[in-house]
Amino acid sequence: MSQTVIAIDGPAASGKGTVSKIISKKLRFNYLDTGKLYRAIGAKYLEGYQPIAAAKSLEGNDLDKYDLQKPEIAQAASEIASIPEVRAALLKFQRNFSQKLPGAVLDGRDIGTVVCPNAKIKIFLTASLEARAKRRYIELRKHDETINFQTILEQIKERDERDQTRRSSPMVAASDAKVFKYFKIINKRSSG
Ligand code: CDP
Repeated sequence: MSQTVIAIDGPAASGKGTVSKIISKKLRFNYLDTGKLYRAIGAKYLEGYQPIAAAKSLEGNDLDKYDLQKPEIAQAASEIASIPEVRAALLKFQRNFSQKLPGAVLDGRDIGTVVCPNAKIKIFLTASLEARAKRRYIELRKHDETINFQTILEQIKERDERDQTRRSSPMVAASDAKVFKYFKIINKRSSG
């Protein structure tokens, strides 16, 4: 029997992680931030590794080895994410994770479309570019005071465009996904 999967996709800094953590905690489901897999390969690529080889040999502790929040790693992640062989190398791990008991929440770009097309619930979470850049700016600023808002906004814009237009598993809402704007959800929560 297949396990219950909740797929949460959407563009950069839309709040996928925050929402996924709330849902997985509430349901006591496993949670996988698939962006971390691409970021870890991006970090290895910046170190000089060949991306396909890095994807094929990715290990759990690679995810702890780097500061994956760094904007340059996010940019590298989106570059290597357009390579079909990189995506293919990560597919089995993600699907196996999704089938572990008691159920799973996975967030990313292609969970509802490619990784778990049979997910029971599919959410596509989005928000304006400015709102997302502001969220990311506030997060990153806690660790690095030299971060510049305009640079973050430009990087997110570039990454979104690349993610939407790549040929292999582009970022798109699944036809059966519910599309939400993050800030509306927050308002609903706070108004009880
Ligand atoms: O946190 P944020 O939304 O900024 O990015 P992320 O989820 O950590 O993903 C980093 C990059 O990995 C994205 O810009 C995508 O290019 C890529 N990615 C992907 O292609 N497919 C996924 N399922 C997850 C991430």
